[in-house]
Amino acid sequence: MKGRWQNSIHLIRPAAVFLAGLVLFLVVRVFVVPPTFGQFGHYRGAVLDEIRALPVKYAGQQACAACHEEETHLKSKGKHASVACETCHGPAAQHAEDPGSVRPGKPEETALCAGCHEMDAAKPKWFPQVNTKEHMAGMRCLECHPAHDPAP
Ligand code: HEC
Ligand code: HEC
Ligand code: HEC
Ligand code: HEC
Repeated sequence: MKGRWQNSIHLIRPAAVFLAGLVLFLVVRVFVVPPTFGQFGHYRGAVLDEIRALPVKYAGQQACAACHEEETHLKSKGKHASVACETCHGPAAQHAEDPGSVRPGKPEETALCAGCHEMDAAKPKWFPQVNTKEHMAGMRCLECHPAHDPAP
């Protein structure tokens, strides 16, 4: 009988270590998993209210159109028709709500334009691209391309 069990200690020891690890994992898990995790899915349920409480930053193009008819009209017939106002001007909900005290400011044009139009082999061929340094020849983009209706 003794001979029969004397080697099984090699299995029992690692099994005990494994079991202890499992118990430790379950205990730690109780403390570190946030209370609302899994309420709706594989995320914290409470995060929905947290995100809902964040201030809205973008007003949307329709809001801009109500006060800036000229820019809206210019843009709608030009090549930038598909680029929304706040893509270039940044989030402007506060400005739209209170234009007297909050101004979006003017974008830094060269960086802005190059951000979309700098030549890059990874961009689709149909998208208009230039080597800005050579192309602008020491001038500003806006001297030749009005931002809201840029076709040369
Ligand atoms: C309730 C009216 C109103 C709304 C809505 C509005 N604006 Fe304005 N905006 C103004 C007024 C007024 C000025 C100041 C005009 C002036 O100085 O002659 C202004 C100025 C600006 C300027 C120039 C800022 C500067 O420093 O020269 C930009 C750019 C601008 N608005 C962008 C936007 C964008 C983008 C939106 C939409 C998200 C928007 N506006 C929505 C009224 C509005
Ligand atoms: C492609 C980028 C781009 C888009 C899209 C864009 N703007 Fe602009 N906007 C500019 C730049 C750049 C200037 C600065 C022009 C300058 O310095 O003369 C500007 C200037 C302005 C100004 C200041 C007045 C002026 O003409 O200098 C207003 C107001 C304005 N934009 C409103 C709008 C509104 C409203 C929309 C959406 C209908 C819009 N913009 C879309 C780039 C853009
Ligand atoms: C958010 C990206 C974006 C930004 C920023 C942007 N553009 Fe554009 N631009 C476009 C798109 C999209 C088109 C239209 C492409 C098309 O449909 O052919 C376009 C078209 C143009 C065209 C017309 C090219 C042609 O086919 O004749 C010129 C010129 C141009 N942009 C210059 C500028 C200048 C100057 C600025 C900076 C004031 C600027 N763009 C900023 C996205 C952008
Ligand atoms: C001296 C005037 C001038 C300046 C400054 C200038 N452009 Fe142009 N741009 C043109 C002319 C003219 C064309 C049309 C002929 C051509 O494709 O070269 C053009 C064409 C473009 C096109 C369309 C290219 C295509 O293949 O369809 C884009 C995009 C453009 N410019 C962006 C810019 C940007 C961004 C800047 C600033 C970094 C800028 N341009 C500065 C005159 C200018």
